[in-house]
Amino acid sequence: MNRTLEPELMDDPEQARIYAQADFEQENQGFVDRFRDYFPDFSEGHVFDLGCGPGDIPIRFARLFPSCRITGVDASAPMVRLAEATARKAGLSDRMTFRCERFQDLAGVSVADAAISNSLLHHVPNPLQFWHKLRLAVKPGSPVLVMDLLRPDSPEDAQAIVDRYASDAPDILRKDFYNSLLAAFTEDEIGAQLARMNLTRLLIDVIDDRHWVVGGIIH
Ligand SMILES: C[S@@+](CC[C@H](N)C(=O)[O-])C[C@H]1O[C@@H](n2cnc3c(N)ncnc32)[C@H](O)[C@@H]1O
Repeated sequence: MNRTLEPELMDDPEQARIYAQADFEQENQGFVDRFRDYFPDFSEGHVFDLGCGPGDIPIRFARLFPSCRITGVDASAPMVRLAEATARKAGLSDRMTFRCERFQDLAGVSVADAAISNSLLHHVPNPLQFWHKLRLAVKPGSPVLVMDLLRPDSPEDAQAIVDRYASDAPDILRKDFYNSLLAAFTEDEIGAQLARMNLTRLLIDVIDDRHWVVGGIIH
């Protein structure tokens, strides 16, 4: 099945609100725990979260790494407002900043000590822009961890995944999940993107029936 693009930004306030209310505890905590497991020597510095959405992952990251400062970047104003409010409620505003900006427009080179990103890449029309910016944003020697959905073989397989994992979710979330699966990349496509960008030291891992993870040190 070919890739079908979905809208780049999640900037409808209702869509952002429902996404923020969804239960991604297992995925999101799994993601930050995986970062800790992949990079046991990492403990402090300035971390970018590209496509941070409503802020659940950077907040979990900030709790896990109390000596880190985190900048979440998302070009959806409703998402950024939700993230700011959640960080305030969590009492973490002093270490967290959110920027309403496309990651493609981020200024600065080698500014971060690490970068994370979950579920952004499938929104992006040109994935090479993402890998390029990821590499530019961090200092050489910095850890990066990226996770996203795997594109299934067919629309029927995509629907089966939505039915298996989001049977009780609101319609708007089920529709977004289905569209995201159709817009996602395959493991081979991710491998080709990394080769094209000379990022082959980053390793790809398919961690379950619907997610891949890419992690490693940027040189
Ligand atoms: C599926 S959400 C994932 C949010 C969060 N990382 C999480 O795991 O819960 C994808 C987010 O990426 C944002 N996004 C998409 N394209 C973007 C871009 N070019 N620059 C910045 N943010 C972008 C969307 O607005 C949306 O909030």
